[in-house]
Amino acid sequence: MDRISKWVDERIDLAGIRKTLLDRKMPGGLTWWHTLGSATLAVFMVQAVTGIVLAMYYAPSPDHAYDSIRYLEHSVASGAVLRGIHHWGASAMVVLVVAHAIRVFSMGSYKYPRELNWLLGVGLLGIVLGFGFTGYLLPWDQKAYWATQVGTNIAGTTPVVGALLVKLLRGGAQLGVATLTRFYALHVLLLPALLVIVALLHLFMVIRQGIAPRTAVLETGAPVHTDSAEYHRYYKEKYAASKGAGVRFWPDIVVKDAVIATGIVILIFVFARFVGAGLELPADPSDSSYVPRPEWYFLPFFQLLKLVPGSMESVVAVGVPGALGLAMVLLPFYDRKSPRSMGRRPVARFSLFALLGGMALLLGASIREPKPTAVAPEVGRVLNSSERAGRALFERQQCGGCHVIAGRGGADRKGDAKDAPDLTEVGLKHSAAYIHSFIEDPSRFHTGSKMPAFGPPVLSHQEIEELSRYLSSLRGKDWQTAKEAFVDTFPEPKKPKEKP
Ligand code: HEC
Repeated sequence: MDRISKWVDERIDLAGIRKTLLDRKMPGGLTWWHTLGSATLAVFMVQAVTGIVLAMYYAPSPDHAYDSIRYLEHSVASGAVLRGIHHWGASAMVVLVVAHAIRVFSMGSYKYPRELNWLLGVGLLGIVLGFGFTGYLLPWDQKAYWATQVGTNIAGTTPVVGALLVKLLRGGAQLGVATLTRFYALHVLLLPALLVIVALLHLFMVIRQGIAPRTAVLETGAPVHTDSAEYHRYYKEKYAASKGAGVRFWPDIVVKDAVIATGIVILIFVFARFVGAGLELPADPSDSSYVPRPEWYFLPFFQLLKLVPGSMESVVAVGVPGALGLAMVLLPFYDRKSPRSMGRRPVARFSLFALLGGMALLLGASIREPKPTAVAPEVGRVLNSSERAGRALFERQQCGGCHVIAGRGGADRKGDAKDAPDLTEVGLKHSAAYIHSFIEDPSRFHTGSKMPAFGPPVLSHQEIEELSRYLSSLRGKDWQTAKEAFVDTFPEPKKPKEKP
């Protein structure tokens, strides 16, 4: 071991590398907030590893994408957890990158001499959001399809280049094969390459320039503007002094970083294991009743678009993210005053609170919004219009007085009603046609049935049809994999003989 390291050392100077990477001096008093950047890097590594394994199972075509994900979820050992980790890891990346940006902003660390690194950071934020947007489509379920439909439509409202942009994103006029392969290529080839390059540059700059010291260190007696030779001299002096009193990267900083990164990875695993990534029904381009919902971190923006009148929508759709992006890019160039702590930067304080407050309000409004077509928990997906009507009838006719669905109902089960079967999985046991005939006249199926007949005039044929559509969508909690096992025998042929 010793000889090998000595051999390598002689050729590439391991000791030198060690000195610049591990032994470098850091300014003292770094907070726990300073660990967010390295935590993001750790989660990215988790994403890279899980992503590679996912790619081994994934088939990027509309015909097979959904099935390949379903296969992974249900038939591959730990497949569901693996996909869950990648899913929640993506959210963690967004949260961490944004939190890191807020930390850098509120400590004024983007100011001289770190303007360039702030720009790289803004680029990284854009790349992470790009990962989120392209990755969302890949499972090719309803959620994926319709959210991407909306997302690409929004891109289409860009002035002048809108139509071209949509075509470029979708690979044609419609969302289809070309869109999926395109998003897949971006997600697994272009974006990872970009992210690695920009992140390496970002890290290189951090090592080269050192981490910005505590805000107080650079505030006493500082010249007002950061772009004067006087300030540059002042900075150099103070920074050198702060390092003298500081700590070393290894082990002081590394341990702190590792604690936070490990905690976050454990949290991601818990979400993956106990919540999972979810998979809706396969994408159905003809089902326009589906209500699209983007990933949660795009919800504030989505909600904002709902609030503005139609004529203003395109202005807001492009203007707001455009303005926000531009403000971030230009930030270190228009804010050149030397104070770094939030206490001494009223404009920055106000902007940050206004932005975060606005986003939180929009997110809250979006979550609290009534969802008439939200996923029906007993069915596991959004109901179509006749199923919805059937569900309403089920309530109105008080079928739930006797029958239980997913643990609900059966409240006044006594006497005769005690035999009413649990309907949680009735869709697996009977066809819609059988259910229709049954509701119409149960006694035809079981003489002396304890269930009242609901045929006309109690309910119309259309209403019974709606009821049976709803009931046949009930497939229990394993609705995605459960197989129907109809043993339906219709009593029709016997009927004429029984009652001549
Ligand atoms: C008074 C209690 C009662 C009410 C109210 C009632 N049912 Fe039933 N239901 C039963 C009983 C009891 C059975 C068992 C059937 C039998 O043995 O004939 C049954 C059976 C069924 C079945 C067949 C299930 C199977 O697995 O074979 C369906 C479907 C059904 N009911 C739907 C409905 C619908 C829809 C409504 C409301 C419009 C409703 N029921 C109202 C008592 C009731």
